Amino acid sequence: MNYLEIRKRYNQASTEGYAIGAFNFSTVELANAIFLAAVKLKSPVLMCTSSGEMEHVGPEVARGIVNGLNRVHPDVAILHLDHGKKFEHIVAAIDAGYDSVHCDGSALPYKENVRLTKKCVQYAHKHGKWIEGELGHVGGSSTLHKDQSYSDVEMIMTEPDEARRFVQETGVNSLAINIGNVHGVWNGIPHIDFKRLKEIQKATRIPLVLHGGSGIPMGQIKKALSFGIDKININTEIRVAYSESIRNSLKDKNMFIPTSYMPLAVKAVQKVVETKIKMFGSTNKLRKL
Ligand code: G3H
Ligand code: ZN
Repeated sequence: MNYLEIRKRYNQASTEGYAIGAFNFSTVELANAIFLAAVKLKSPVLMCTSSGEMEHVGPEVARGIVNGLNRVHPDVAILHLDHGKKFEHIVAAIDAGYDSVHCDGSALPYKENVRLTKKCVQYAHKHGKWIEGELGHVGGSSTLHKDQSYSDVEMIMTEPDEARRFVQETGVNSLAINIGNVHGVWNGIPHIDFKRLKEIQKATRIPLVLHGGSGIPMGQIKKALSFGIDKININTEIRVAYSESIRNSLKDKNMFIPTSYMPLAVKAVQKVVETKIKMFGSTNKLRKL
């Protein structure tokens, strides 16, 4: 999908008050599950691989999988690199034909983040690709953190004025922010700072991205949608549904055949993705480009 078509997708989400779900995959079953949910609910989606997931699947293979799926139902999925922390990750994804990339320099000091992001923006725009930046670090990791709560995670929140400068200096098309969101599922619930979100939205006027979508309750998601969040990332809940299903199936020692137990895992993940699509309000939002 090209840059202008992606812009159209974000504009539509922004004017109609919903968010496009960004779902991670690292196996063909996960990709299938995400796509099946999107097609069933007639929703656009971003199908993402982190740089580690991209390395595991292979960037060309990831491109091939999403091409194959989009061939059956055109224009459903945007293939997106999630958390590319190095210039080489951005280059690998773009050279393999990814539609969109996330340059994540958020762990770096401001100036270095700007330097890396600018370089990535130049490469992305030269190749006609959409690029997301990140300012204010979203901490945690996409797994279950059963023994710790959200307040245990160090927060580096996004500052609205700095976000304005960052967008001007780098030229990113969308921005991932920290407003209390955390990667992974922890005890309790996260506390999203909506006042900050409103200020960042006013300062940047570009599509804003909420990472760490797993575990954020419905009420806070709905509010985030009305305050300018246009994309929400989900990984942990997908990973949990997938691994729990397979673990359960393989308890049966006679279970040897992937085509017997994998469809159950696909169903479990599809259910998670459908729930999120409904939460994000993108059901029936798939339009011809
Ligand atoms: O980049 C991926 C997402 O931010 C996933 O966050 O694992 O909390 O769903 P999550
Ligand atoms: Zn993330």
